[in-house]
Amino acid sequence: MSTTRAPYVTTPIEKVKTWFKAAPVTKFPSNGGACVQYKGKQIAVFNFTKEDKWYACQNLCPHKMEMVLSRGMIGDAAGIPKVACPLHKKTFSLDSGENLNGDLEAIAVYPVKVEGGFVYLGFSD
Ligand code: FES
Repeated sequence: MSTTRAPYVTTPIEKVKTWFKAAPVTKFPSNGGACVQYKGKQIAVFNFTKEDKWYACQNLCPHKMEMVLSRGMIGDAAGIPKVACPLHKKTFSLDSGENLNGDLEAIAVYPVKVEGGFVYLGFSD
């Protein structure tokens, strides 16, 4: 299990070494997510249109180790942006990665920026 989880590490913006040009903004549905590949990792990217914000996290749900989070519903829990896994509705903060309705390990989250109509994801490698 730990080897599957190993590549996903939360990247604070000050640790970003690479801004990966993921895709045009138009490839991401409003108030929804899409999956992007980076160095063998699957990253879920969310276009939180309602709040005019973008978020990125690992696509891997730590509950049953399924690559599904990009298909989850996004929303907010008392002001915390969150994604709910489409399989069993475990929810995770898109700010910190924390599991908001259980005691699962936190998911990794990544910085996102939009420039010139493209979405960029921040990685430390
Ligand atoms: S696999 Fe995500 S909540 Fe069960």
